[in-house]
Amino acid sequence: MASEIPLPKMPWIQLGELDPASMLTPPPALFPANTTAQERAAMRFGVNGNAVFTGGTGMLALASARALLEHGLSGIALLDLPTAIEKGQSAIETLRADFPSAKILAEPCDVTDADGMRETVQKVRDQLGDLTILCCFAGMVNCVAAENLSIEQWRRVIDVNTTGSWIAAQTVGKHMISSGHGGKIVLISSISGHRVNYPQPQIAYNVSKSAVLHIRNSLAAEWTRYGIRVNSISPGYMDTVLNEGEDLAPWRAIWADRNPMRRMGSPQEMTGPVIFLCSDIGGSYVNGTDLVVDGMLFDSVNDNDADDIARWWFGFLDYNSCRCSLCPQPEQDRDT
Ligand SMILES: NC(=O)c1ccc[n+]([C@@H]2O[C@H](COP(=O)([O-])OP(=O)(O)OC[C@H]3O[C@@H](n4cnc5c(N)ncnc54)[C@H](O)[C@@H]3O)[C@@H](O)[C@H]2O)c1
Repeated sequence: MASEIPLPKMPWIQLGELDPASMLTPPPALFPANTTAQERAAMRFGVNGNAVFTGGTGMLALASARALLEHGLSGIALLDLPTAIEKGQSAIETLRADFPSAKILAEPCDVTDADGMRETVQKVRDQLGDLTILCCFAGMVNCVAAENLSIEQWRRVIDVNTTGSWIAAQTVGKHMISSGHGGKIVLISSISGHRVNYPQPQIAYNVSKSAVLHIRNSLAAEWTRYGIRVNSISPGYMDTVLNEGEDLAPWRAIWADRNPMRRMGSPQEMTGPVIFLCSDIGGSYVNGTDLVVDGMLFDSVNDNDADDIARWWFGFLDYNSCRCSLCPQPEQDRDT
């Protein structure tokens, strides 16, 4: 009989508690009445607890680490490849000197090594205490025409950018879950996760960053019940080592040309979004979303094609005198 066959136990995504008394994502308490405007401003973007950064000695990571420490972070573990940590030693020492009361750890850790990640995260958890923030900055890019990209090159980029973000998120996420206090995870994607860059061919990078966006969606859906907010940031072209070098000058000119701000972003311009997403109060109802920090770049192949077609179409037709449904009418031009 069908009723005697036990139903298989299927895993279900669980949403958070409905009861405000037990939910792990309650609204923040009202600011105390006796606080000044400056105190409330500081509280709004205050950051608490301890952070783990992968790719922690990279340029965007170091700028963001400094900002989080300025906003109240107690401790941070900068995980990176051994060579990167060695190279970043003086920047790490400067951070330690500038924030003497914060615990600032630097640990070698390859994000593609799940066992190594587990050991490292346990070690930093033992030294720092509860881990409340994770930012996944580790990333790499290769620019190779699709037809020439080797399988090793493809796998390496996906492994570092996508699987590495996943390994870090799962490892630190488990600690956040077992702490019972939740946390904030910020994944670093890219505009390349949304559309195809021009003129550099980088299919593996584009795909890897697109997948990062969906890791964010999936984790936010599953882990909000544990009080973990999961968001991502998609930087545009930022002035870091990834975009350095004489041979990149023509690309940089094209990127600036297709941006209404006519320039790349500075690492400093990443820090506001990172603070916002990691803040206890300012970002408390922001979950499962992506902040695009690109100065409104319209340089994707897709946008560009649309633009060229529109220019050709409207240049070819005298749309001011045309009354077809595709052409904007003079009144519409004025209205919009
Ligand atoms: N700079 C940009 O224009 C830009 C634009 C969009 C997205 N991003 C993303 O921002 C993040 C930070 O980039 P950045 O510009 O600061 O470059 P960066 O090269 O300074 O930082 C990347 C860091 O990742 C580390 N890393 C690489 N492979 C690793 C691995 N296997 N394990 C651990 N760490 C590893 C590197 O050592 C480096 O410290 C990256 O994910 C990048 O894709 C950058």
